[in-house]
Amino acid sequence: MCGIIAYAGSKQCKNILLNGLKRLEYRGYDSAGIGILSINHIPEAKNPVVEIKVVKEAGKIKVLEELLSEVEMHGVCGIGHTRWATHGEPTRINAHPHFDCKQKIAVVHNGIIENYAEIKEELIKKGHVFVSQTDTEVLPHLLEEYLKSKTNINLLMAMQKLLKKIKGSGAIVAISVENPDEIVAGRIASPLIVGTSKEGNFLASDMPAVLEHTRFFTVINDYETVCITRDKVKIYDSNGKPVKRNPFKVNWSIESAEKGGYEDFMLKEIFEQPYGIRETMRGRLLDGELNFKELNLTDEQIKNLNKIQIIACGTSYHAALTGKLVIERWAKIPVEVEISSEYRYRDPIVGEGCLFIAITQSGETIDTLAAIREARRKGAKVIAVTNVVGSTVARESDSVIYTHAGPEVGVCATKTFSAQIVVMYLTGLYIARVKGLIKQENYGRIIEELRIIPDKAQIILNNADRIKKIADETFRYTCFLFLGRIYGFPVALEGALKLKEISYIHAEGYAAGEMKHGPIALTDNKTVVVGVIPQDFVYEKMLSNLQEVKARNARIFTIVSEGDKNTEKYADYIFEIPKTLEELNGILAVIPLQLYAYYIAKNLNRNVDQPRNLAKSVTVE
Ligand code: AGP
Repeated sequence: MCGIIAYAGSKQCKNILLNGLKRLEYRGYDSAGIGILSINHIPEAKNPVVEIKVVKEAGKIKVLEELLSEVEMHGVCGIGHTRWATHGEPTRINAHPHFDCKQKIAVVHNGIIENYAEIKEELIKKGHVFVSQTDTEVLPHLLEEYLKSKTNINLLMAMQKLLKKIKGSGAIVAISVENPDEIVAGRIASPLIVGTSKEGNFLASDMPAVLEHTRFFTVINDYETVCITRDKVKIYDSNGKPVKRNPFKVNWSIESAEKGGYEDFMLKEIFEQPYGIRETMRGRLLDGELNFKELNLTDEQIKNLNKIQIIACGTSYHAALTGKLVIERWAKIPVEVEISSEYRYRDPIVGEGCLFIAITQSGETIDTLAAIREARRKGAKVIAVTNVVGSTVARESDSVIYTHAGPEVGVCATKTFSAQIVVMYLTGLYIARVKGLIKQENYGRIIEELRIIPDKAQIILNNADRIKKIADETFRYTCFLFLGRIYGFPVALEGALKLKEISYIHAEGYAAGEMKHGPIALTDNKTVVVGVIPQDFVYEKMLSNLQEVKARNARIFTIVSEGDKNTEKYADYIFEIPKTLEELNGILAVIPLQLYAYYIAKNLNRNVDQPRNLAKSVTVE
């Protein structure tokens, strides 16, 4: 997830681009840059000389701002980008815009090019030289290649050809010295909008970037291309035929537009989960097969694994617990899961054949970092699972598997959690495949179910109002127990953590079978028991556990699989989630619990994005 802005108009564009990037910083902030078409009138030259001036740097937008304050950049047509790294660390070289060989075409991009490695190889063979580690850099080189291969092809046509060549996602915006007053863009599965005004036209990833200039927008759809100049916007369909589309008007404030119209970042991020899940699978789940080389283990090493240790804190720890269940089930390797702060002090045994996985959305959690250092000191090979490219954990690990959930602003982890679970599913499945432990039929079934999980997550989100209603009726309770078994247990823990974190209500997550060993004593008519009970092999056991708490007069709220009417007899509230394979229930069942915590906290007027006493990155012990 990155932020893009482009402007072609009558005003100098440097500050328009810079201010637009500031408004997009919530989409990514590890490096930023702008590129402006600059026309120089040289007295002795016949025609003006056009060049693309680029200023870019690693760090937040204010770093770019300081640089720009010292640089003269004139021009009325330009592009800007704020980056959330996916391929290549956040450095100046990897920052956008990227150039072709002759620096005549510049491109900014938001998305992931799945087949960039093969395209890069083809281009290198044709003599192209690359300077960055990014997937994006293949784009200006491809455009250059298309333009030089035929005389009657323009930048727009080259962009149309490019969209057919690349696999993955992208909002791609390009400028060229050949046409200094136009900007060309194309879109596949990443947001791209056009803003229109009397003083010029804009392209952007999101409305806040240009709301101070216009309130009139047009959405560009998948595989469409668009060309903007100072006074024209031309949109084309995937066959290159012109499309007529009238702009619509929005009345949002800039602040609410940053949150995509949602009241809080947390709610926006909960709703972004279908996107985060899909992006995290992108390029790794291809045409019914798993491409998961990032594990960075040879088949031989995988076959020799005798133990996996996973360490993490908080929500990431709950993703680790889900990882244990699927890895043990599919890949038949014992998995130890441990809280990072405990691991570092207990003299853990690592040994030959032990794989160590550290999960951390921020990549900066000090306890996780210390555990990684301890494991490496003992000779373990460390794989990090993180959402932040170039974070300390990413740098200090042997290899990294990135979740591609996009930046998470709310302190409460939501979309990064579902993305971490995706990585756990892929890890378990990949190891099982290499070890030859999974039948083709079962493998195919899991892959197909994973492919449609984002749509199922969307179905849950479409019913968020139902959860809101349950929250409205239960927010005054002061004791909540979240119960689950096997795949439902980490979900129960996560549901309880979400609730306590943002509502400040006491909540506990328990393995339902453990109730009789103590916690059931808490249960009375002042308790809400949330039962995570989708269809699986412990379903009947969960039913009995819920009956036990009902007999103690608790209020019962069940999360069940679609069409399940069995809990109607004793549940006060029921929420149905789409059916899936039992191993995958967790990623769906957690979404209603995130929403439940959110709506309860809103009823209590809590600051859900910045709950008291908490920070997004816990960098102290
Ligand atoms: C989750 O909502 C919390 N903010 C917290 O438990 C968090 O998951 C924990 O601090 C771990 O953070 P990390 O994933 O960045 O390492």
